[in-house]
Amino acid sequence: MVTIREECEADVEAIRRVNVAAFAGEGEVEARLVEALRASGALVLSLVAEVDGRIAGHVAFSPVTVGAATGVGLAPMAVVPELQRTGLGGRMIDEALRRLAHTHRFCVVLGHPAYYPRFGFVPASTAGLHWEHGHDEAFFVKPLVAGGLDGVRGIVRYRPELDAV
Ligand SMILES: CC(C)(COP(=O)(O)OP(=O)(O)OC[C@H]1O[C@@H](n2cnc3c(N)ncnc32)[C@H](O)[C@@H]1OP(=O)(O)O)[C@@H](O)C(=O)NCCC(=O)NCCS
Repeated sequence: MVTIREECEADVEAIRRVNVAAFAGEGEVEARLVEALRASGALVLSLVAEVDGRIAGHVAFSPVTVGAATGVGLAPMAVVPELQRTGLGGRMIDEALRRLAHTHRFCVVLGHPAYYPRFGFVPASTAGLHWEHGHDEAFFVKPLVAGGLDGVRGIVRYRPELDAV
């Protein structure tokens, strides 16, 4: 059985293991990033995918700013290798976006160009938004509410914890 739910204190080690396993060679960095965001109270939303009682996926969201506007950024997301491409990542994103629509105007993500458009993300550059470090080709945005991007144009800045990666 698959349950998508918010992280709790008892999940911290399992979340670390999922990130280390999912990101070949860079897992430690991603795990530390999640821990740094958590330590500074910057995890707007942190969901886990529990499969038959075991944590098999994780996704984190932290605040981003565009001038005076605030949204959220998805990063990082991880699914254990043996369960990748079985839909777990998609279920976590669907659930996260449903929840975040109650609290935030828009969501950005830097990631696989073939993946995020299926959740309604569009190239951020087409909305006049750019990550401060470039990479327009992999940078996407989704308004979470009607008019969520009204008046929002310019450079998107993530939390300093993400810049340190
Ligand atoms: C990216 C990831 C979180 C997606 O989760 P998932 O549960 O595997 O995804 P889903 O089953 O919902 O969807 C599968 C889609 O993910 C994308 N995808 C998965 N792994 C991918 C990879 N290594 N490269 C490119 N696209 C990938 C593909 O678009 C795939 O669709 P397809 O099977 O039709 O080709 C997961 O594959 C993962 O942990 N990968 C390693 C870590 C990583 O790259 N994280 C993303 C950081 S933004």
